[in-house]
Amino acid sequence: MAEDLNIGHGSKEEQYLSLIPQIKGLIEGEPDLTANLANIAAALKEQFNFFWVGFYLVKNDVLVLAPFQGPVACTRIGRGRGVCGTSWERAKTIIVPDVEKFPGHIACNSASKSEIVVPIIKNNLVIGVLDVDSSDYDTFDAVDATFLEKIVALIR
Ligand code: SME
Repeated sequence: MAEDLNIGHGSKEEQYLSLIPQIKGLIEGEPDLTANLANIAAALKEQFNFFWVGFYLVKNDVLVLAPFQGPVACTRIGRGRGVCGTSWERAKTIIVPDVEKFPGHIACNSASKSEIVVPIIKNNLVIGVLDVDSSDYDTFDAVDATFLEKIVALIR
């Protein structure tokens, strides 16, 4: 396992392409889910300096806050609630260019302006979500969706 993250430069694609093998290296050989989610959140924060990046895991039919990087956040989100609960319910990635325009958006922090939520799917079941928030509007696009989906697919 690499000791330090090698920060990628260039386009967003190039940055994800530099990051993904390093994430693989960080989590391969480590079976503990919490440890791996913690390192994935830290690696994404270090590479992109996102405002908030972290996980919610489904526990007893509610999303519960899991490893993250950034300001304190809401701890529980119901199915179909907010962007995270909607991504869980639909089992689909959701890109929100302006959180104020997403009906039912849950504002954990007023500085968050745009957001992407990617479901973590195991055996056709959503076991949690990866949530990334930006303090700027319109930060996330199909490139983020593609690469963040590749990253959550590494989670065992
Ligand atoms: N905004 C999210 C809640 C989680 S926080 O952004 C960390 C939502 O609407 O589901």
